[in-house]
Amino acid sequence: MRTLMLAVSGIVACGPRVGPGTPDPDALVPFVDLNPDPDVVEVELVAEVAEWSIDGGPPSEVWAYRDAAGGGPATIPGPLLEVEPGQRMLVHFINELPMSTTVHFHGMRKPNAMDGTPATQLVVMPGDHFDYEFVVEDPGLFWYHPHVMTADQVAAGLYGPVRSGDTLGVEVDADRVLVLDDVRLVDGAIALEATEEELRSGRQGDVLLVNGRVPDEELRVGTRERWRILDAANARHFALTLAGASFTVIGGDSGPVAAPYPVDVLRLAPGDRLDVIVELPPGIRSSLRAEPVDRGFGLEPEPARTLLEVQVTPELQSRSPLPEALPALPLVGDPGGEPLQLVLSGGAAPDGSPVFYVNDEVWPFADAIPVALGDRERWEVVNQTDGSQPLHLHGLFYEVLDVDGVPPVHRGLEDTFPIPAGSTANLAVHYRAPGVWMFHSHLLEHGELGLMGALAVE
Ligand code: C2O
Ligand code: CU
Repeated sequence: MRTLMLAVSGIVACGPRVGPGTPDPDALVPFVDLNPDPDVVEVELVAEVAEWSIDGGPPSEVWAYRDAAGGGPATIPGPLLEVEPGQRMLVHFINELPMSTTVHFHGMRKPNAMDGTPATQLVVMPGDHFDYEFVVEDPGLFWYHPHVMTADQVAAGLYGPVRSGDTLGVEVDADRVLVLDDVRLVDGAIALEATEEELRSGRQGDVLLVNGRVPDEELRVGTRERWRILDAANARHFALTLAGASFTVIGGDSGPVAAPYPVDVLRLAPGDRLDVIVELPPGIRSSLRAEPVDRGFGLEPEPARTLLEVQVTPELQSRSPLPEALPALPLVGDPGGEPLQLVLSGGAAPDGSPVFYVNDEVWPFADAIPVALGDRERWEVVNQTDGSQPLHLHGLFYEVLDVDGVPPVHRGLEDTFPIPAGSTANLAVHYRAPGVWMFHSHLLEHGELGLMGALAVE
């Protein structure tokens, strides 16, 4: 069974399958681990200007990551980093871009100095390098991306997945990582510059990508698979359906959920991850669809679109029952007391261009908020902008207590959660690690235009 699973999943296949015309959504290239020590994963990551074809047509210029030790070309998404909780990971990063950058491992807990933001390190200049090194704490799906000119650099193709921990005792036909994105094309190439409208409402491309490609072939799937899904888009919120399938959520931002639960629609905001068991009857064909999402800003929700066609191969079947409980991180709980209030709002600069604020301040012209290490605090986050703001917090997970007084159906820890326009969300945050931790809208254009802040945990 094991051999069959590996053969089907494709994730462990050797060598890059990245040439034009191979839009296999599974074709993520794993990093080559340079360190023979089983407790250490050591890789070489390069960011560079590269060529990439999203649809099998002629390649165009993008910014992308490459595994220097693996020797293959740069890919979108970047190489898959596979780690286990408890392992030390060491990423030797080299910047071959014409612009400074950093690498932030989104969602991974780590010492503050390794957080990869301009608040925690000097940016990595063109031609320069930086070593990221920390011990992996949690299982889950995480990702890496720049934290300098983040909106532009991520849109240009700089993002890659991190898969931590392989097994939860769930028997599956395949364990896939699906990284979702959208791009706007100008003359067949990814538009690297945002328009005025995209600054106002976030870049939302007209072409949908699964693992960096427009899938043009049916994906052959088993009757039970594990899909770890990441929304790496700058602004697009996804609501995914797959007719005939049943989805069971087994994990989210912070790794496994305490009690797996069924859902009909998989919802992801930018930066979000979901870990899902997908079960399908043998023999059917179906399509993974992106359903309309109203994320505000006066945008007309797009009609439903097909992301991926699937065909269920009848001979692959797993029958062991799904677990009822999983080892989740403990919740924070309501800390009580006076909340820390954050008001998110938008406006216009004197020249009319959009600006965004946290408590009327525009990052980077705001001070870090001092808080005490070890404390738990409630955050009352009021979204006064015209659209959904996926609020991301570095280094610390938070629990969503309620949105407009309504508690979530399934409790869990998040690092990114979309706060709807006009809503107030109460979050519980545990200041468990010292340092300067950034928080911002993962609607990356708005983060870049000021909707960002930092906590000084000391
Ligand atoms: Cu995904 Cu501050 O980042
Ligand atoms: Cu992050």
